[in-house]
Amino acid sequence: MNITIVGTGYVGLVTGTTLAELGNNVYCVDIDEKKVEGMRNGIVPIYEPNLEEMFLRNIQAQRLFFTTDLKEALDKSEVIFLALPTPPGEDGSADLSYVLQVSNDIGEMMTSYKVIVNKSTVPVGTAERVRETISAKTKIPFDVVSNPEFLREGFALEDSMNPARVIVGSSSEKAKEIMAQIYQPFTNTGIPIIFMDEKSSELTKYAANSFLAVKITFMNEIANYCEKVGADVDKVRLGMGSDDRIGHRFLFPGIGYGGSCFPKDVKALIKSGKQEDFDFQILEATEKVNQNQKTILVSEIENYFGGDLKGKKIALWGLAFKANTDDIREASSLDNIKMLLEKGAEITAYDSIAEGNVKKILGDQISYAKDMYSALENADALLIATEWSEFKNPNFELMAKKMRNRAIFDGRNMFAIEKVENSGFYYKSIGRKT
Ligand code: UGA
Repeated sequence: MNITIVGTGYVGLVTGTTLAELGNNVYCVDIDEKKVEGMRNGIVPIYEPNLEEMFLRNIQAQRLFFTTDLKEALDKSEVIFLALPTPPGEDGSADLSYVLQVSNDIGEMMTSYKVIVNKSTVPVGTAERVRETISAKTKIPFDVVSNPEFLREGFALEDSMNPARVIVGSSSEKAKEIMAQIYQPFTNTGIPIIFMDEKSSELTKYAANSFLAVKITFMNEIANYCEKVGADVDKVRLGMGSDDRIGHRFLFPGIGYGGSCFPKDVKALIKSGKQEDFDFQILEATEKVNQNQKTILVSEIENYFGGDLKGKKIALWGLAFKANTDDIREASSLDNIKMLLEKGAEITAYDSIAEGNVKKILGDQISYAKDMYSALENADALLIATEWSEFKNPNFELMAKKMRNRAIFDGRNMFAIEKVENSGFYYKSIGRKT
């Protein structure tokens, strides 16, 4: 099948590459000429494990194409996936201007039946708005489908090639059949495809992300409470997670959730609720607790140094919002940096993958180390903000030699407490018994 993808951000690029891998001819459209030129020359604009290999394979096989010309890409395919950004507007609601602008253009340019598939995370009612926008421009028949994406950064290909489920929201039998055909390679291997109406499908995406954000935040509160009463969150987590109604995943406490999805989607769902006079009280609490959790270790560091951080040298391991990505959107590291700098501390950070993105916004407000140990040179404390695997088993002796004071504040519960303490460090992690 020929498929067009509009937008080559995270979701668009991964969806396009995956659909090409499944044997389709995929035409990816983006307005960014430089990016399109780069992709044509085999440059993958994002960091994602194993993506480059699959991307190059499909370009070589002539199944994956890039263009800035929407009309050309539109004429090639019957199915048009929209994978456009829906950033939070000033009031927190999802900004649909990209989605609606492209819908308008599609309405003006299309010359035959199309299925317009919303892959972007969009508020309930967007399929309807896309339909109205296109209808205002054309009499040619078309269908609009909601088909949310559930991939995680860092596992994008894995999730995209082997999703837990495929959700298709559509009221058109014809569109449903076409979607079933596209996803047949998945359904053949037992991956469920769940059909529903457009609105339920749109809400499923927000509900899933918000639920996970609540799950993490709940565990963060339990972790904070563990510290108050002398319990150990690692034990509580294992005990709770063994009940398969709860499950072990997404129960890891830390310094809050970040990224381009959870914070944005929680905010947008709260905002959508407000528009219907509906208060998502649990989500409002989640936002508040998470905001606090992100910098919970700063006050610990401050207390440790008797309330004065002026001139203290803090080493920071990890800048990305989580491991295996270069994404720093809503990363806890940034909140910590901001607060520590305000308090007069000096920061040397190490994150070889995300460093470039941080440099773009922070420049020389902090220093950047070329490896994890040189970040520790003369440091008074180490703060860990991302759970990169290279941090998992460090040489504590070498660390102790490099640092002028032995203190580790671990926002990701990376180490066995005994091991760190036996190496002579003060060690503070989240919700664990010391
Ligand atoms: C999330 C969802 O997991 C995907 O299913 C969804 O498709 C995606 O958003 C999206 O809407 O596009 P992602 O933002 O890539 O994926 O990251 P996650 O792996 O979900 O992590 C989100 C945040 O939660 C990170 O800051 C992570 O460190 C934190 N987290 C996660 C915890 O603090 N504890 C956990 O146990 C799990």
